Order: sequence, then structure tokens, then C-alpha cells
Amino acid sequence: MQDHGLKTAVIYGSARRERRGINAARFIVNQLGNRGHTVSLVDTEEYQLPMLDLMHKEYDDGKAPQAMQEVADILASADGYVIVSGEYNHSVPPALKNLLDHYQSEYLYKPSAIVTYSAGPFGGVRGLINLRGILAELGTPSIPSAFPVSVVQKSFDKNGEAIDEAYEKRVKRFLDEYEWYACALRNAREKETCDSEQPVQQGLCRGTG
Ligand SMILES: Cc1cc2nc3c(=O)[nH]c(=O)nc-3n(C[C@H](O)[C@H](O)[C@H](O)COP(=O)(O)O)c2cc1C
Repeated sequence: MQDHGLKTAVIYGSARRERRGINAARFIVNQLGNRGHTVSLVDTEEYQLPMLDLMHKEYDDGKAPQAMQEVADILASADGYVIVSGEYNHSVPPALKNLLDHYQSEYLYKPSAIVTYSAGPFGGVRGLINLRGILAELGTPSIPSAFPVSVVQKSFDKNGEAIDEAYEKRVKRFLDEYEWYACALRNAREKETCDSEQPVQQGLCRGTG
């Protein structure tokens, strides 16, 4: 096990009663745990947020709903995020997007890595394209590699074990790359290897840049 001390939040969002992607999320949680990460699974079924009205930052201190605060604390303490997303009509599931949109500063200067899946053969790659833009705007740019999963319902069991061993080989390269970015940005945030000040985060799309 590696001694990098990284904390990673795995974010999964499907509100469907027969959802299939949870097994892929558990696979990623297991893999990160095996690699020495402190892992939190942020599952929209466990953390049921309202449809977006107030963002977390818009509540007075201590006034946010408990689940919203718990997610904020997990996101704030993480060094990076692995987003596990299905593809709904070529885009992102609404439960996942709703959760992501509640937060902002928690994500800044940390990387994300994208896992997509679908019931069919294309692995959710059209949702992936949308998700890259969303994560960039949130301030957690995604690493170049992604991890698409085809036929998700037959790829992992309910304990998150891979039914097809090929996924264990593929995930190693994907998580190697994620860890490089997570370590590099953590070092930069802590100014151990990077002297420059963090630039003010631009908000061009919000008119605040
Ligand atoms: C509303 C909806 C839209 C979907 N759109 C797509 C799609 O655009 N492309 C695709 O490959 N699969 C699509 N699917 C099938 C999903 O890949 C499949 O149902 C998957 O299991 C959904 O993830 P979940 O079970 O974790 O909710 C869609 C499913 C739903 C419910």
C-alpha cells in the first residue's frame, strides 16, 4: 500500500430505485482503498439534498441542512474527486448534477477523475464529454484519462468486485494518473513544491472574473 495519504471523495448520483452504477462506484471505492486512500463515498441516496434552492455557501454558518453540511465537509477535506456517472440522454444524471451544483469553493485547486458507465456498449462517453465542462466550471478540472464502463450491469458484483478482470488492469493506469495530479496539486496548495500564490479563481462564465 502506498503512503501518499491522499483523501478522495467518490461521488455517485442516481436516484433510480433499480440503479446499476452503484456497483461501479463500489469498485472504485475498493480500488482506492487498496491503494491507501482515505475514501468517502458521496452517494445521493445516502445524502439526499433538496432540488437546488440555496447553495451550501448561501446558508448562514451552521444553518445548512445536516446532509448538505456533511457533504460539504467531505468535499472540503478531500484532495480530489472521482465522479462516477451514468449517461442520461447523452448527459449527466440529474441527482448527480444537483449534488455537484450545491458546492463551489470546496472543489477549487483539486483534480477530478471521471468514471462513466452505461447499460449499452458505449460506456457513457457522451455523458463524459458534458461532465468535463461541468467539472472545469466547478473548479475541479478532470484528468486527461477517463474510465468508461460498458454494460455496467454485468461488469461488477454488488460488493464492487470486477466480473471482468480487464477492469482491474485498466483502473490501475487511470488511478496512477489521478494520484499524480492529486499529489501535485496538494503539494502546490501546501506550497511544498510551488512558490507561486494561488491565482484568484476566475469566474468568467458567472460574470465575476
Ligand atoms: C432517463 C435515462 C436516460 C438514458 N439515456 C441513455 C443514453 O443517453 N445513453 C446510454 O448509453 N444509456 C442511457 N440510459 C441507460 C443507462 O445507461 C442505464 O439505465 C444505466 O443503468 C443508468 O445508470 P443507473 O442505473 O446508475 O441510474 C438512460 C437511462 C435513463 C433512465
